[in-house]
Amino acid sequence: DHIRVVPSPKRIKSDPEDVLMEMRKRGGLEAAEVVESGMDVGLGTGSTTAWAIAAIGWKLDDGELENVRGVATSLQSHDLARELGIPLTDVDEFDSLDVAIDGADQWDPDHPHVVKGGGASHAREKLIDSMADRLVIATDEQKTATPLSHPVPLSVLPESRNVAQEWVREQGGEPSLRYAEAKDGPLFTANGNLVVDCDFGEMDDVEGRATDLARIPGAQEHGLFVGMVDDVIYGTDDGVDSVS
Ligand code: 5RP
Repeated sequence: DHIRVVPSPKRIKSDPEDVLMEMRKRGGLEAAEVVESGMDVGLGTGSTTAWAIAAIGWKLDDGELENVRGVATSLQSHDLARELGIPLTDVDEFDSLDVAIDGADQWDPDHPHVVKGGGASHAREKLIDSMADRLVIATDEQKTATPLSHPVPLSVLPESRNVAQEWVREQGGEPSLRYAEAKDGPLFTANGNLVVDCDFGEMDDVEGRATDLARIPGAQEHGLFVGMVDDVIYGTDDGVDSVS
């Protein structure tokens, strides 16, 4: 249920969850406007990016866009793009991409940093987003924070989970091993790693935090995307807005 593709035409907007989904939809649909014919596009993960992927698929279908190739950041976005008829290519085929559209768990309107990894896809997302000439974050206005304070996902080798959590504590954070939704065991990423969510509270020095997390033994990738963001397109209560 993470990805909602089909909009309900008469959505009742009094439910806060519906309002939130509407904001994400606006952000996602507007973000798709950056895609032009002939572009190679990184396709992010999550409920907001799902709308951008849907819009790209619809535009290809209408003939409004042509010769677009997508590179998916997760199995979910791969399957969604495939369902919508977007031609997909493997990341190995490219040295760079024209644009990547991805979501965020928290974004800072004053700095080009975001926290990602709510879907545990941050390693592949970071790889693909870093290859793009332009990284567009599609999101909603409720996810803003200055400074960033969202727990940072850290994917780790399974055997390093205890050591990694001890390092996070030594760095002043509160670690928690992420469990699968059914709670019958820890969540494994697509690459077979575990995820430790690291709560540091407000992060005044995001660059320093990113450097410290990368030093943790067994760490594979963390969800701080530092200085990578070119534009944020976000849905609001009554429309859509952007910062660059
Ligand atoms: C997945 C991510 C997502 O982009 C992030 O969790 C935002 O998702 P959503 O748009 O559903 O709120 O980083 O790893």
